[in-house]
Amino acid sequence: MSIVANDLADMATRAESEIAAAADEAALDALRVRYVGRREGEITKALKTLPSLPAAERPAFGAAANAARERIESALERRGGELRASALERDIAGAAADLTLPPRRVRVGRYHPISRTIREITRIFAGMGFEAVEGPEVEWDYYNFEALNIPPGHPARDKFSTLWVNAEGSMEVALAATGTGGRAVAEPSRRQPMLLRTHTSPMQIRVMEQRRPPVRVVVPGRCYRFEATDATHESVFFQYEGLAIDEQLSMADLKGVLYSFARQIFGSERKVRFRPDYFPFTEPSAEIAFDCFVCDGSGTTNAGRCATCGGSGWIEAAGCGMVHPEALRRVGYDPSQVQGFAFGGGVERLAMLLTGTPDIRLFHQNDLRYLESV
Ligand code: DAH
Repeated sequence: MSIVANDLADMATRAESEIAAAADEAALDALRVRYVGRREGEITKALKTLPSLPAAERPAFGAAANAARERIESALERRGGELRASALERDIAGAAADLTLPPRRVRVGRYHPISRTIREITRIFAGMGFEAVEGPEVEWDYYNFEALNIPPGHPARDKFSTLWVNAEGSMEVALAATGTGGRAVAEPSRRQPMLLRTHTSPMQIRVMEQRRPPVRVVVPGRCYRFEATDATHESVFFQYEGLAIDEQLSMADLKGVLYSFARQIFGSERKVRFRPDYFPFTEPSAEIAFDCFVCDGSGTTNAGRCATCGGSGWIEAAGCGMVHPEALRRVGYDPSQVQGFAFGGGVERLAMLLTGTPDIRLFHQNDLRYLESV
């Protein structure tokens, strides 16, 4: 090794001991600039003398310079690590950490009572072979009304006022009876105005359009109605719809399925009332009700008339019936070959029964103190 190369090795040794003794990051930085700084560092300066050396010595000198640089850089890195570690230890030792402090409470999420009820409903119907499907909340007049035997002007529209989406895409409230804005609709077509669906029944038509029998679906989903709210009514609420189509279905199958559902969801205690009703899209139609869980069916409480059931002793749970032959024909089914039953009920009614909630509005006010308690 040449003398100059030895000088470089000596310099590296000197640098290593200075670096190891550096007291802090600032001192370390100064040493970094002094030895390996790009412009004025010792290594850079040494390399600048390279051209003046005899050609034969240049390779050995270059190699020695690189070796010295590597030794210095790794010394810098080592000392830097040591300084950072001891700074951290100082910080920890100096901090007034209170090891007795209780940990932050872990807030565990939970399902909203309505979601819980929907999961329970779909689980029970899945056990009877019903597949859960969902549909659009913004719906064509055709599916919400027309295809369910509710043409413009039909009195059944009266209880279905909702928000309509006009051509500009903004919403307006209108009576469903004149839902087309008073314009006569000559041909029933899907190109009619859209609305926020007033029930989940339109999915009966959509599902039948897409499938061949046998069909067995349950459809939970959000619905909308323009109406005053009270303990059992909200303008935004959830329904579940059921539909079964097959070759040999009768009213007895409908009753069996709904009785089984009521017992599975409320236990054998709950009384069930089944009586005739009218819906344009089922024939015959029926209504199913459970006895009121607040007044136990008596219609009165200590405070007087029971607010939950309105004094009737019963809480209507669902409308139902045999699917109207006209609805079957409309989707291309042959009513002489297949029949079916349908039902549709309010999810909140069931959630109220399951959680003992006396007022439907408690579900939608989003007060966590209430939602976490049920
Ligand atoms: N869609 C009806 C409503 O919201 C309820 C209903 C009645 C659904 C009879 C049905 C049915 O499937 O068959 O008032």
